Amino acid sequence: MVKINFRDTAVHYGAEPGGGAPTKIKITFVDSHGQSRTVEDEVGSTVMETARRNDIPEIAAECGGACACATCHVYIDGAWSEKTGKASQMEEDMLDFAFDVQPNSRLCCQITVRPELDGLIVKTPSQQG
Ligand code: FES
Repeated sequence: MVKINFRDTAVHYGAEPGGGAPTKIKITFVDSHGQSRTVEDEVGSTVMETARRNDIPEIAAECGGACACATCHVYIDGAWSEKTGKASQMEEDMLDFAFDVQPNSRLCCQITVRPELDGLIVKTPSQQG
C-alpha cells in the first residue's frame, strides 16, 4: 500500500535562489475583542492550519479541515475577499451552520496560503458553530 502525504504533494510556490515568490507569508488574525496577532507560515498550508499552529484563539477547527464543522469561521477583511476568492458550494452549505455569517464569511480551512495572500487580515467571530 502506498501512503501519500498530501502535505508533501501540495503546490509549493517556494522561492528559487535569486528570487521568486516567498515561501512564507504573514497573516494577521484579529479576534472578537480587537486583539491582533500577526503570524508567519508556510505557503501551501491553509489559513486554518496556520491559525492552529500559532494558537490563534476563536478558531476551533474541530473537523481538522474536512469542511465538516464550520468551527473555523472567519471574516475576510476588506479588499482581501477578492484575493481569497469565493467559497465553494460545499463551503457555502457548511457556512449555514456557522454563527453570525456575513457576506465576507469564509471557512479558513478552505483557504490555501499563497504568496498573493501575504499580509492577509482575517477576523474571528465571538463564537463558533
Ligand atoms: S475545520 Fe471544520 S470546517 Fe474548517
